[in-house]
Amino acid sequence: MRVAIIGGGGRVGVCAAYALQWGGIVSEIILFDILEDLVRGEALDLLHGSAFLHDQRICSGDLESVAGADIIIITAGLRRKPDESRLDLVNRNVSLFLSIIADLKAASLRKDAILLVVSNPVDILTYLAVQESGLPPEQIVGLGTLLDTSRFCSLIADAIKAAPTQVKASILGEHGDSMVPVWSSATCNGFSLENHPELTPTTKNKIFERTRQSGAEVIRLKGGAGWAVGTSIATLVHAIVLDQRKMLPVSSLQTGTYGLAGICISVPTLVGLGGILEHVELELWPRELQGLKSSANALQETIKRIGV
Ligand code: 2OP
Repeated sequence: MRVAIIGGGGRVGVCAAYALQWGGIVSEIILFDILEDLVRGEALDLLHGSAFLHDQRICSGDLESVAGADIIIITAGLRRKPDESRLDLVNRNVSLFLSIIADLKAASLRKDAILLVVSNPVDILTYLAVQESGLPPEQIVGLGTLLDTSRFCSLIADAIKAAPTQVKASILGEHGDSMVPVWSSATCNGFSLENHPELTPTTKNKIFERTRQSGAEVIRLKGGAGWAVGTSIATLVHAIVLDQRKMLPVSSLQTGTYGLAGICISVPTLVGLGGILEHVELELWPRELQGLKSSANALQETIKRIGV
């Protein structure tokens, strides 16, 4: 499976490439960026490590080679400032994103290609990709709240001194300020965390707030996320490539699940070969469902505001 990363010279793109290289699942990784020397250098640096990792082809390429990939990851875009919301980026990144989609269509984007949208505001840009790419909606997948979910589980595990891989708890909704913590189904090794002695209401609120602010915290500390978003991207790519039918909180066009339609937002979603397989309407607490609907309204307002 050939994967291409538009924005492959940037921190998110190159961390995604590194995660895919360590994963060893995809057969080819193509990096594309307008900063040609930078992206050639990143591809070469990754290639230099391939002798000790996996038998993959790693290179920088032109838009034609990107358009011929099975999965095209779009990480290109301006980063927000710590005090900006991701939705504040909408005016700056929409025009760049639309030009990327237009260039891919002009370069004969494959009809069976999957677009994996990471650039922010990811839910809005995923919706734009559905509208403009000409690909079926199920082939358009936004990273959505998968990164937030990874942060949420990792911070819960840190708080209860548990193994991070055994903590399962989702963030749904917008990858942004209105994201929703789903404590109702939070578990550790399959046991409910509802009454865990360390998880008092105050601690739960602190964990969620830190999750919600994690993007800004990392931007403030080191200029922007890379490692965890790269890991999240590789997790999503592998679910597609291996047809894992994993249930992941990723952003895609809604057609009625939880009463949501006509926007892209993260709900429990089965992901496999071909992209979005199914949205699954699992039980949520009333306040979680209300939070999801509020999150959807926030995104709907933005879509109306930019007039798409
Ligand atoms: C984040 O939350 C990049 O939006 C991404 O770090």
